[in-house]
Amino acid sequence: AIPLIIDTDPGVDDAFAIALAARSAEVDLVGLTTVFGNVALDLTTRNALRLLAYLERTDVPVVRGAEGPSGAADVHGEDGLGGQAHTLPESDREIFGDDVVGFFRERLTPETVVVAIGPQTNIAKALDAGIEFPRLIVMGGGLGLGNTTERAEFNFWADPAAARTVIRKGNPVVVPLNLTHRCIADTEFLANVDQTLSNLTGTYRTYLANRSENQGIYIHDAVAVAEAIVPGTLKTKTHLLDIDDDGALVEGNHQVEVAEDTDWPALRAFMEQRLSV
Ligand code: BDR
Ligand code: CA
Repeated sequence: AIPLIIDTDPGVDDAFAIALAARSAEVDLVGLTTVFGNVALDLTTRNALRLLAYLERTDVPVVRGAEGPSGAADVHGEDGLGGQAHTLPESDREIFGDDVVGFFRERLTPETVVVAIGPQTNIAKALDAGIEFPRLIVMGGGLGLGNTTERAEFNFWADPAAARTVIRKGNPVVVPLNLTHRCIADTEFLANVDQTLSNLTGTYRTYLANRSENQGIYIHDAVAVAEAIVPGTLKTKTHLLDIDDDGALVEGNHQVEVAEDTDWPALRAFMEQRLSV
């Protein structure tokens, strides 16, 4: 199996991404590293522990990472999981410390894939400390498209300097909004999968329904994790990019592989199958 570490700020779509990994035998979930983002670090870390308890994967270590100013409670709920975190088992399990850079240093092998689905703060710290990621997949950014400002996507907007470091030094595959906005877990999808997971999506669905025709949620983060489980799921193309001071992904001088396309009906069927209990 492919060793996988997920850097995450759960988060409703993060929950789907973690569940997808936990229920896929192609990958060996080596750890979750947490970061602030959708909600504060205490909550994202607690949610990571609860999700693993629910998924019966208490063997997977959770390392507490970087704190920062959080803020997507309107999308993900005050608890980060649509007000439904309490429906997952409370976990009194100890975290595996708070040294994410040390964890990467210890656990990365030449085969390890790291998928970063929150603000890029932990990943940038690791890169600055000289860590090399053999394969790094990042959910973030949008080409001419934002979801937090007109041009900036949330994960990159939340820590633009970190996103810049990752774009310039991390050699990532970037999974942008342009692609994830085509990957909608609609009412039918949500009816077909694990209802405990579906029940986390209420706040997110209300938020989107008030803004668009969308009757489901974007499962941004699960799209990025799918590429770790079945390499080649996403079709990529190299672009010359950078990150501006507002966290927008813009044209620049750094070669970046960008995921531009996928067979969504096939990916959707794959996700539904893995996420149904
Ligand atoms: C990203 O921001 C977060 O709110 C989601 O979990 C996802 O990682 C989408 O812009
Ligand atoms: Ca996320």
